[in-house]
Amino acid sequence: MSIEDAAAIIDEFASSWRALVAAEPPTGVAFAITDAASGGLVGCCGVDDWSNADVAQFGYWIGPSARGRGYATRAVVLLTRWLFELGAARAFLTVEADNEASAAVARRAGFVHEGTMRAHSVWQGERIDVMWFAALPLEWPMREPDEPA
Ligand SMILES: CC(C)(COP(=O)(O)OP(=O)(O)OC[C@H]1O[C@@H](n2cnc3c(N)ncnc32)[C@H](O)[C@@H]1OP(=O)(O)O)[C@@H](O)C(=O)NCCC(=O)NCCS
Repeated sequence: MSIEDAAAIIDEFASSWRALVAAEPPTGVAFAITDAASGGLVGCCGVDDWSNADVAQFGYWIGPSARGRGYATRAVVLLTRWLFELGAARAFLTVEADNEASAAVARRAGFVHEGTMRAHSVWQGERIDVMWFAALPLEWPMREPDEPA
């Protein structure tokens, strides 16, 4: 990604936050994921879509040097809690079938694997299966606040 492309994405994040403040759905808003103690940046998570039926889809990534320490799992729990507080009736994420690290994050964060959509996407020229994970507010096991990591 070029500097210009990255700057454009950051501008889109800012625009999405302004829309949320103006009472529009949180589609496109993103959070930096930081270490709770040091404040150091480790990754990002954000809302890809918020449908007319109040279904929220989101995604996340952690920089390679910060993986393996639970940042993504904690970020997914906090983001999901925030989405439910905003009124989401369902939160879901899609995970490429061979992305075991991401599927593990989803499971640790209390998401249910609802199924796998075969040949649903194309990545680097290869057609791939995509797993579908979701949480519903009333059955999600991590609704209560937790201790800072
Ligand atoms: C998917 C991705 C975010 C997973 O990152 P991760 O660091 O493995 O996930 P977490 O931050 O939750 O860390 C989990 C690991 O930390 C360990 N861990 C340590 N402390 C922990 C804690 N307090 N809570 C949870 N896990 C903890 C876990 O045991 C696990 O280790 P393991 O991989 O050896 O089993 C990362 O691989 C990534 O950014 N990939 C590229 C982008 C991507 O695929 N995004 C998702 C698209 S759907």
